[in-house]
Amino acid sequence: MNIVLLGSGNVAAVLGRKFKAAGHTILQIYSRNSAAASELAYELDAESTNYKSTILKTADVYIVAVKDDAIEQVTEEIYLPGKVVAHTAASVPKEVLSRVTSHYGVFYPLQSLRKEMTRLPDVPVFFDGSDEHTKTVLASLARSIAPVQALEAGDDDRQKLHVAAVVVSNFTNHLYTLAEEYCHKEGLDFKQLLPLIEETALRIRTVSPKAAQTGPAIRHDSETIRKHLELLHGHPQLKNIYLVLTESLQTAE
Ligand SMILES: NC(=O)c1ccc[n+]([C@@H]2O[C@H](COP(=O)([O-])OP(=O)(O)OC[C@H]3O[C@@H](n4cnc5c(N)ncnc54)[C@H](OP(=O)(O)O)[C@@H]3O)[C@@H](O)[C@H]2O)c1
Repeated sequence: MNIVLLGSGNVAAVLGRKFKAAGHTILQIYSRNSAAASELAYELDAESTNYKSTILKTADVYIVAVKDDAIEQVTEEIYLPGKVVAHTAASVPKEVLSRVTSHYGVFYPLQSLRKEMTRLPDVPVFFDGSDEHTKTVLASLARSIAPVQALEAGDDDRQKLHVAAVVVSNFTNHLYTLAEEYCHKEGLDFKQLLPLIEETALRIRTVSPKAAQTGPAIRHDSETIRKHLELLHGHPQLKNIYLVLTESLQTAE
């Protein structure tokens, strides 16, 4: 398919690379950030523009990959009748694009994407469309980059998925950040925890997270928990989270 990307951040960059690797042609990158647009366009062998009036009308699909709150503003005064136009946000209804075309939808990649990624990760895609034509086109595009996990999901399901995604990815990563700061302050090497992190993540491919849980909280090792809280005296934020999660683990049994 011929594709125009609107936006030049993390998602535009990674989806652009995935589309290209799957044999699609990126015709153009539109972005207010002309330096980022031309850099990404150069990489993807595409044109770039920062003028809405010069957005090409010849693509099959337009992917709007800008900040959630900017989707409406960025697509203002863009009219692409007959074209399929989709944004990439989990928590924004597809109707935000209804002024742009009658074939509007969502192309939500359920993955943590960073522009700097050198290895292209597996990216499950949840798509939705205003009509059968839009759904068919977006399903085909999704299957081309995610053969196993290209699934239809309406606005409600997508928002619920996003909540779960924030918990498993953003919150977990925040815990890594706090643990890294704790290690740094206590003169420990955070990297020594990497095998444990990897094993815990891999285990839940075959066992439910609840069944895979170990540690002092579910063993009710009160003396160990007391010592840990003492050691966390100088780390109030982490101590607070330790207490909340210990209680959550013990009440979830
Ligand atoms: N990153 C992820 O892991 C991920 C995963 C799934 C879905 N998403 C969704 O994908 C979308 C893009 O996320 P991202 O991570 O690619 O964001 P990002 O890296 O911050 O890039 C955002 C893009 O939006 C542009 N932008 C921001 N505010 C704008 C405005 N007011 N007017 C015009 N352009 C504006 C930015 O331009 P400037 O460079 O000029 O700021 C940039 O090109 C979001 O809806 C997000 O929810 C993200």
